[in-house]
Amino acid sequence: MATNMDQDIQTILVTETELDRVTFRIASEIDRDYKDAEHLVLLCILKGSIVFTGELMRKLTIPSEIDFMKVSSYGSGTTSSGRVNIILDIMRSDLNECDILIIEDIIDSGRTLSYLAEYLRLKGAKSVKTCALLDKPSRREVDFQPDYIGLEIPDEFVVGFGLDYDERYRQLPYIGILKPSVYEK
Ligand code: IMP
Ligand code: MG
Repeated sequence: MATNMDQDIQTILVTETELDRVTFRIASEIDRDYKDAEHLVLLCILKGSIVFTGELMRKLTIPSEIDFMKVSSYGSGTTSSGRVNIILDIMRSDLNECDILIIEDIIDSGRTLSYLAEYLRLKGAKSVKTCALLDKPSRREVDFQPDYIGLEIPDEFVVGFGLDYDERYRQLPYIGILKPSVYEK
């Protein structure tokens, strides 16, 4: 369905069909790798990862729980502040029994995922792995590679499928490159 948000998109980078295929492939990999896990927890990093996490949940066949953390590394706009702040922490007393799989929408500098993986290990999680739908490898500032990756994309600011620009466009069913004129105004 066309929305008035579509006109702010320069190019569709990943279509709905492609997203369905990619999320299915990652869910199959998780199914395979965690089939003997006793306590898989999909840790959705708010807010950008809600759509991706929902898609993975629906496609997994093994039992899993869902939990949430909220962090900020981007302020407003399209550039990272370079610091990771925990705004909402994971609250559970059984972390030492949990196989945590951190679910991120996109890995850019790598700071958010490397910080969170280390944080959850120090907090005592039984195991910690990371998953990102999108990867911008050319932007990496810390040496970090997620365990599961959907697609590599070029260094463009993208929105849709949960990803936002100033809280907008999350609801788009595809991933699109935002017209620079939208944020250069
Ligand atoms: P990192 O810590 O630099 O790897 O940044 C990861 C976070 O930056 C993601 O969770 C997103 O919130 C945000 N981000 C990075 N690139 C984009 C983009 O192209 N569109 C929307 N958000 C982005
Ligand atoms: Mg995010």
